Amino acid sequence: MIYYYSATKKTQVYAEVLAQILDSPIYVLETNWDNGQSSKFKQFGFFVGCAFYALVGKTIPVKNMPKIYEPHESKEITKETQKNQESEIYVCAPIWANAPAPPIEYFLKNAIFKNVKVHLLLTASAPNEKMRTKGQKLLSTIDCIPGNVFVFAGSGAHDIELLKEQLKEMVQ
Ligand SMILES: Cc1cc2nc3c(=O)[nH]c(=O)nc-3n(C[C@H](O)[C@H](O)[C@H](O)COP(=O)(O)O)c2cc1C
Repeated sequence: MIYYYSATKKTQVYAEVLAQILDSPIYVLETNWDNGQSSKFKQFGFFVGCAFYALVGKTIPVKNMPKIYEPHESKEITKETQKNQESEIYVCAPIWANAPAPPIEYFLKNAIFKNVKVHLLLTASAPNEKMRTKGQKLLSTIDCIPGNVFVFAGSGAHDIELLKEQLKEMVQ
């Protein structure tokens, strides 16, 4: 299964190509703030608001948590949630302020991933090693089997053929 959040559609292209390669279902995570719909964001402009929230480490909740990954109080794993979980997932997200965007942090921190291998695919304007380290740190703070963390240039979304080759290599 592939889960993604994408504000300006670059990560979306990565997630869709990856879904094709893995022949996997895909699920888009949304927030109330996308497209500047929130009145809070209209005041500042969407990207300034995003940057500010990312910089100060504020949460941006996902409004459509997938059923099996709904936020829960106890973090208890029931037979039902265990049964429904995939064993391996890819989570795709943009980098904001040098770290995975807050909605993806929300998704990862508010769901049960016990016994699930979680890979992260991040896109950034200017990828660097620190971003990969931040992704690895994020995975290490949640109860999952940490998978690989990949950081790609968002501009890669413009060349689908090259992207296919890169992602095929990535999943090998
Ligand atoms: C609020 C905000 C903060 C960003 N911060 C960074 C950053 O620190 N470093 C970077 O290389 N790119 C940064 N970017 C660029 C995005 O990571 C990049 O364009 C990404 O591919 C966008 O993915 P999306 O189209 O799926 O939203 C930022 C973009 C936004 C909107």
